[in-house]
Amino acid sequence: MDLNEVRKNARERLKGTGTCAVYKVCDGHPDRLCQGLKYGDVPGMGGAGSGMSFHNNFLALQRIKLRMRNVGPGFEVDPSIDLLGHQLKMPIIGASTSGMKTSLKGVITDEELSEATVQGCKAAGTISARGDGVDTIEENPGLAAIGRVDGWGMQVYKPVEQGLLLQRIKEAEEAGVVAVGVDLDGCGSLNMAKIGYPVHRKTPDELKEIVASTSLPVLFKGIMELDDAEAVLESGAAAIVVSNHGGRVLDHTPGVADVLPGIVQLVDGRMIVFADGAVRSGYDAIKLLALGADITLIGRPLIRATVGGGAEGVRLHMEFMLSTLKAAMRMTGCPDLASIGPHILA
Ligand SMILES: Cc1cc2nc3c(=O)[nH]c(=O)nc-3n(C[C@H](O)[C@H](O)[C@H](O)COP(=O)(O)O)c2cc1C
Repeated sequence: MDLNEVRKNARERLKGTGTCAVYKVCDGHPDRLCQGLKYGDVPGMGGAGSGMSFHNNFLALQRIKLRMRNVGPGFEVDPSIDLLGHQLKMPIIGASTSGMKTSLKGVITDEELSEATVQGCKAAGTISARGDGVDTIEENPGLAAIGRVDGWGMQVYKPVEQGLLLQRIKEAEEAGVVAVGVDLDGCGSLNMAKIGYPVHRKTPDELKEIVASTSLPVLFKGIMELDDAEAVLESGAAAIVVSNHGGRVLDHTPGVADVLPGIVQLVDGRMIVFADGAVRSGYDAIKLLALGADITLIGRPLIRATVGGGAEGVRLHMEFMLSTLKAAMRMTGCPDLASIGPHILA
């Protein structure tokens, strides 16, 4: 199997579902099948409302150009990174995703998605996060899949009521995950209220309480603004995820690449900075890294890869991310991640 076959399989399986047409570039363009106002439905594979936040992630990355440097001593490229004491082959990981019954009309289950992303990322020498927007809160296919690989994953929970959230974080701790997180922008999720678990905005004190409640490194996801980033920093979190949830919770936000530099400047090396949104190749990933992200995450492409090829599809996709990142590093004159910076951008 190769990635072309994975894409072909995914296209066949998703035909007629109205969810995703598996275009060559997954860019959130307003004309795409996944995009456009759905009159009250959850956003499927697209973005909220008109879908501009998803598309803005793509546009913000496209505006940035890479500077090619070909003269100088030869070098080997090393994109490996230490993440919280764990060695990864690349600074690119699987994003937390879930809700396949609504978003993908059940073509794959959340169990299949979790198993494939966790296993496929592991096989490629990296790691995946897992989300929890599924049918019932009692079952957690994401955490189960992470448990089957001795905790090699990150569990990201929706911002449910604080007592319940702290209890769920304990479950992740018992499963021995690498890190636990809360997608703070999940307070915009319609799904959770539908299954009887309303989601809330979290106060700065609640963020501190979450960090203090666990021995695990904590990440807060869904940060686009400096004041929110400041609250995350003050909470003592290990990491911040600059993200607009793939554009799925608020229409018309800026792209992630637009807001990332300001947040990086504020954080000033005091937390790990993750960023995601329309990263489709290593060429995209290196742009976010050059803007100051330590790690980038990818969402939709791994869902497509799972549909088209299961864990092997995900592994192939992550290998593609690695090879294109290596090519980008080589051609911009960056032997390692430390040498990537704004000087490679035009
Ligand atoms: C179908 C779908 C489901 C998602 N579910 C979750 C989730 O449960 N928890 C979460 O933190 N983020 C969720 N996300 C957001 C991703 O973690 C990530 O931020 C986003 O997909 C990145 O953008 P990209 O898909 O363009 O790469 C979801 C995204 C999609 C497309």
